[in-house]
Amino acid sequence: MTAPLFRPQFPPAIQRVINRLYAETVAQDPRTRDAALAEGMANESHAGFYAAMTDARMPVTPEFGNLLYVMARSSGAREVVEFGTSFGVSTLFLAAALRDNGGGRIVSTELFPAKAARAEANLREAGLADLVEIRVGDARETLRSDDGAPIDLILLDAAKDLYLDVLRLLEPRLRKGGLVVSDRADLDGGDGDRAAAHIAYLTDMTNGYRMAGVATQALGQTFLHDVAIRV
Ligand SMILES: C[S@@+](CC[C@H](N)C(=O)[O-])C[C@H]1O[C@@H](n2cnc3c(N)ncnc32)[C@H](O)[C@@H]1O
Repeated sequence: MTAPLFRPQFPPAIQRVINRLYAETVAQDPRTRDAALAEGMANESHAGFYAAMTDARMPVTPEFGNLLYVMARSSGAREVVEFGTSFGVSTLFLAAALRDNGGGRIVSTELFPAKAARAEANLREAGLADLVEIRVGDARETLRSDDGAPIDLILLDAAKDLYLDVLRLLEPRLRKGGLVVSDRADLDGGDGDRAAAHIAYLTDMTNGYRMAGVATQALGQTFLHDVAIRV
């Protein structure tokens, strides 16, 4: 959100939308978060947290967005599944990569229709909407049926306590060499057991993954991410 983390490196039509969304995040997200806090909803362990955050963008950090682009490019991704669209910031980075890989599809999932509509508009403005299908509703349902195309990259960036459930749902389609990217699993607002179980699953060699932890910074804070490869 501040230089040098925020490197402009995409075609102008895409970069303009990314820049606007990060500027809006800085200007507006704290207000929405404060209102949620005032209602007693400090984090997602509270029922209604995401409903209270429908006006908030909650994007990945700019540097992690850049890393998503690099990971999708380096793995030659064509089939991507995303848990948690919000306003579509991470989706923009991933779709930019798919465009540069020569095409493909992102299936992204969002609980709230209003947010999905905002993401769709942002992707249209960036000229990337043709690469993205947004499914509205609970991802555990909307991802249940699919055509079985092998998945190259999974991004988990929504309710942390559901990461393992969503991964297990998609796992039969994840190709060898495919990536599982978990954003901020450390933030599980509940007792932490579910997100911890997710990380334990990815770090247990017998489950067929190898994992690396990555930290990025934005607005003076540190954000943690985990990147696993299916071996
Ligand atoms: C952290 S935000 C995603 C940010 C987005 N990846 C980005 O970088 O712009 C998480 C989103 O997941 C959505 N969400 C929460 N639980 C969900 C569920 N069970 N199924 C689908 N979406 C969900 C929330 O409404 C919220 O918009």
